[in-house]
Amino acid sequence: MFGSGKRDSVSAGRDSSAAAPGGRRFGSALGFVLVAVGAAVGLGNVWKFPYLAGANGGAVFVLLYLFFLLAVALPILVAEVAIGRRGRASPPHALARQASEFGRASGFWHAAGAVGVWISLVIMSFYSVIGGWTIAFLVEAGSGFAAFADAAGALAHQRALENDPLGMLGLQLLFILATVAIVAAGVRSGIERSMRVMAPLMAVLLIIVVAFALFNGAGARALAWLFAADWAKLDGSVALAALGQAFFTLSVGIGGMMTYGAYLPEGASPLRTSLAVAAADTAVALLAGLAVFPIVFAHGLDPAAGPALIFITLPMAFHAMPGGALVGGAFFLFLLLAALTSAVALYEPFVAYRIERGMTRVKATILAAAVSWAIGLVTVASLSVARDVHPLGFLGGAFTQMTGFDLITLGIDKLILPLGALLIAWFAGRILAERAFTALFPDDPPPCVGLIRLALRSWVPLAILVLLVSGLMLG
Ligand code: PHE
Repeated sequence: MFGSGKRDSVSAGRDSSAAAPGGRRFGSALGFVLVAVGAAVGLGNVWKFPYLAGANGGAVFVLLYLFFLLAVALPILVAEVAIGRRGRASPPHALARQASEFGRASGFWHAAGAVGVWISLVIMSFYSVIGGWTIAFLVEAGSGFAAFADAAGALAHQRALENDPLGMLGLQLLFILATVAIVAAGVRSGIERSMRVMAPLMAVLLIIVVAFALFNGAGARALAWLFAADWAKLDGSVALAALGQAFFTLSVGIGGMMTYGAYLPEGASPLRTSLAVAAADTAVALLAGLAVFPIVFAHGLDPAAGPALIFITLPMAFHAMPGGALVGGAFFLFLLLAALTSAVALYEPFVAYRIERGMTRVKATILAAAVSWAIGLVTVASLSVARDVHPLGFLGGAFTQMTGFDLITLGIDKLILPLGALLIAWFAGRILAERAFTALFPDDPPPCVGLIRLALRSWVPLAILVLLVSGLMLG
């Protein structure tokens, strides 16, 4: 799977000819920003961010998340885009090629990139299950969320969903097939073109939902809950969760943005495009909070309900409010589109890598789909028949309560993404020579570029290490 350094340069060399002018590139800087915003904005913003904030003490988590996003995850995003842009290949080849250029062991970096590529498929394994749920809820909107007349009904609906693993697998497959259709059509005619249609639609849908929530919900309470912090709730575990979510929401740490960076057109700045992506992603996370929590509070629902927060509580509110079927339909359609455009970014690194090693795009996409579907069996099982199985329960402590799904999502947030980000900071800050790094930003203000490089060499790795150690030891 990892290959040798020698093989890297051969296949990477082959790819660079394949990616010659007119090869795999987005049409414009705007095209890149749209697609990268699509990758960043997803279930992480709308499903995961609210329930993590709910479970981790509200404003403390939100403020830390915003801080880490700006100070730690943003420099990593710039680094990923820059490494990809310079390497012009999938993460294993982009990293290996540049490592050997600077006299480092390309085998290690190839392996690191390949691990990231495979982890994307692991993320897709649960992402596609939740993505499948959004399809089911879109259908519920058609009936005005009739099953959600009261809490008992909502719980019964959720139980029915969870007690039907085959149905869940079917919905997951639908979601996967939609992703396959986009990725298999190619970088420009599939990924970029679909995003040019979906992005404006998503913006309109989100504005409808937020406007409705603020006019009809408990907006002031939601704002206080999101931003008035009780710092006594701060601990290592909350901080590490906030850091992991900052990485997850920007899709950094596993090479997804590096892959898109490889398609950045000549002349587009990795810095300015990254800033645009981070700004849009943060805006959507906060807007999603403003869409979800006013409704949660207005209906006396529990913000700490966990992963099912938006699937149990919100439909009840949609059922109760006038026009709820329409607003709820808009909400779940938005969520489905947002999930799809992120799922695309979970397949593309694997697909790009396989293409560079001689596979066709269609075959590579189908392989990615098959692998992620199969790993998804763990999530489907732990949300249904294996709900009470705790694979690492013998370790004691928090592990006694964790299902396979919990282990995957928490392991990715609290271990894998921080470690991946650490490697990326090391690569961009210490392996790429300063001249090579700054040459990627010819039109950006040198102090900004210097600041990003300083971040990657100092506080970014330091913060990740401190949070990893304290979060894992104490949390
Ligand atoms: N950023 C996406 C979200 O917030 C998830 C994602 C992570 C997508 C990593 C691609 C790569 O939903």
